[in-house]
Amino acid sequence: MSEFTSNIISWENIKIENTNFGNNSAKQDICGFLLGYAEQKGSLDILDLGCGNGSQWEWYTSRKDNYKYKLNIVGYEPYINNAANFNKKINNSIEFIYNLDNCNNKFDVVMCMSVLEHVYDRRKFLYVCHRACKLKGYAIINFDNGHFFNPKEWKRNFFGRILAKYTPIKKYYQDFVDVNIIIKMAEEIGMTFDDYIDYHVFINKKRLKLINNCVPKNKGKIIDKIQKFEKDISKLINVKDNKLIHNKFSYSSTLILKKLER
Ligand SMILES: C[S@@+](CC[C@H](N)C(=O)[O-])C[C@H]1O[C@@H](n2cnc3c(N)ncnc32)[C@H](O)[C@@H]1O
Repeated sequence: MSEFTSNIISWENIKIENTNFGNNSAKQDICGFLLGYAEQKGSLDILDLGCGNGSQWEWYTSRKDNYKYKLNIVGYEPYINNAANFNKKINNSIEFIYNLDNCNNKFDVVMCMSVLEHVYDRRKFLYVCHRACKLKGYAIINFDNGHFFNPKEWKRNFFGRILAKYTPIKKYYQDFVDVNIIIKMAEEIGMTFDDYIDYHVFINKKRLKLINNCVPKNKGKIIDKIQKFEKDISKLINVKDNKLIHNKFSYSSTLILKKLER
């Protein structure tokens, strides 16, 4: 079992009203890991790289009192317009930073949620993850290759790439993430591979919303079971190395890297 997976809390033991992640078990896994890791360490310093408006933290910031452990979250967003509603729509009280100058070796976890597929210079991005992590810190790189199978996104898939390649405009870029290339780059930079999980193929993510209609005491049990199922399947079919499946059926993927001493 990877360090990531073994750190995820058992949802069964936590009081869940609504995680807001009812339709996305990749996100449930990530917040389960953050809570489990925070329990171990007492508190966590987290950098949200490519934070957008920060609404992905509402599950924590709106019910801080429900959790025993403190998450100190700092958000960074290179395209400032994408953070125009930061702490406005939802008062998250998250610290927003305008540059990454003082971020060296500062964070237990660097989180990137649905970001990597939009990043043009991926090596530079991985450098930032490495630089910002404390020793033994994690970079949790979640991405969605589903954009590229959505016919409605054809303009952005096509023109975003052309603009990024031939002009200074990179903000519309989106392209496939080939996870094996990313792992190789990350290892060259000094990160170690911990795990890669594809979320998936066999579960209809709209149906996951049904979890929110269940009796509260059963929600945790259901989430635990679904996550175990998704991870077991991901391992068995080894999606990462299976070209017939890779990038074709997953709705979300998470790569977990760790910064170790060289
Ligand atoms: C789909 S949004 C996700 C926003 C947020 N993480 C969330 O979960 O809602 C992708 C974000 O990646 C950001 N982004 C693109 N290139 C980036 C880079 N090189 N470094 C950091 N963030 C980047 C974009 O500005 C955008 O806000």
